[in-house]
Amino acid sequence: MKSITIIGTGYVGLVTGVGLAEFGNRVICADINEKKISALNSGAVPIYEPGLEEIIKKNVSKNRLFFSSDISSSINDSEVIIIAVGTPESDSGEADMQFVFSVVEELKKNLNNYKIVCTKSTVPIGTGGKIIKILQNSYRENIDFDYVSNPEFLREGSAVKDFLWPDRIIIGTSSKKAYQVMCDIYRPLYINKNPIEHTTIETAEMIKYASNSFLALKISYINEIANLCEAVGADVHDVASAMGKDGRISEKFLHPGPGFGGSCFPKDLESLIAISKKYDLPMETLSAAIKANKSQKTKMGNKLEKLIPGGIKNKNIAILGLSFKANTDDIRESSSIDMINYILSKGGNIRAYDPIANDSMSKLFSDISYFHDVYVAVDKADALVVMTEWNEFRSLDLKKIRSKMSGNYILDTRNILNMEELSSLDFVYDNVGRIKI
Ligand code: UGA
Repeated sequence: MKSITIIGTGYVGLVTGVGLAEFGNRVICADINEKKISALNSGAVPIYEPGLEEIIKKNVSKNRLFFSSDISSSINDSEVIIIAVGTPESDSGEADMQFVFSVVEELKKNLNNYKIVCTKSTVPIGTGGKIIKILQNSYRENIDFDYVSNPEFLREGSAVKDFLWPDRIIIGTSSKKAYQVMCDIYRPLYINKNPIEHTTIETAEMIKYASNSFLALKISYINEIANLCEAVGADVHDVASAMGKDGRISEKFLHPGPGFGGSCFPKDLESLIAISKKYDLPMETLSAAIKANKSQKTKMGNKLEKLIPGGIKNKNIAILGLSFKANTDDIRESSSIDMINYILSKGGNIRAYDPIANDSMSKLFSDISYFHDVYVAVDKADALVVMTEWNEFRSLDLKKIRSKMSGNYILDTRNILNMEELSSLDFVYDNVGRIKI
């Protein structure tokens, strides 16, 4: 059992903290936001993440998980300190590192005996080296520490599952001792011989960016193939499924849609582009993926405009799904934002529904109508757009929807509705790259 402090209680910090407690470690989740910490201490969970609340409760009751806003004593009390604060995109595209370096300032003041300093936040390659230098050059003598880069690969909406059953754990460090301690904190996975990769710090930092960027590239690629499928009369699902059978390609992340969003891909791509430019090795493939993604988002609006006779103007449009993907209330960079802006710019009226993201979106668009029931949202709508692949949209009662709507136009940007049923109910529909029935 190791004692660990995680600084930052966003979705990465919280899920990591709870997951490491579940592995049997003693974990303090620390954050300067006192409100958040007191909410956590009273049993509230600040983010929606399936399974998170239950596992927090379990580990708090087993006295393995604690929440604190006292950063100094949290650092003093633990052997491993994990930095898990945000690295948002700055105006230049580079990651904004102010939160990471303010934690490093705290570490400078509080490293009281040997500790492992570990970064989980996604940070530009070279950050580990900078942190080591800052700590080594701090005014206090004999600071004893080892540094580890241990990037995360959690997906929002399945982060708890991803943490407990990971594809790989990357431990970037030059210290054998730190490597062994990190293997110990992931002990259940280590015993199960889960793939733990020991790399250099820079390699670990690069693995994170290279992975996210590749996945984003893959999505932009299949989106462009989908658009071309429409033009040439091919079906993108058949294409993706056959491509995926080639082990070199794999079927995952080949699902076409309205363009990727979220807090990671858009910012990580920009950050890696900024890094590549610094070394005068600009990554053209990533710039193309971003361009294709922006244009995919606009294409969805154009599709809707084309689908409805007379266009969007003065029409009632029901939007189903506001979050950037299913199982989260996160709307950051969600394609729904682009869709809402498009409809508003064309003079349409919006009736929005999301199982859990209505509140988040209402902070951005307070003037559109939000509903808590999908069948109320579609009432007298001229057209309906599916923007998020929530499970409940896969099993919609389309007959009921047809009887509630005043029009019969559907744009399914996630390709989840049954086309045979849509046709038999006389819907006029469009999707992304599928042959219509
Ligand atoms: C992503 C990575 O998948 C995680 O491994 C990584 O840890 C995380 O970023 C991070 O850096 O923190 P996340 O952003 O939560 O996770 O969500 P994804 O499931 O990767 O989806 C991202 C976007 O791509 C969503 O808008 C989703 O709808 C879209 N997508 C995904 C597609 O359009 N098609 C697909 O086939 C897959």
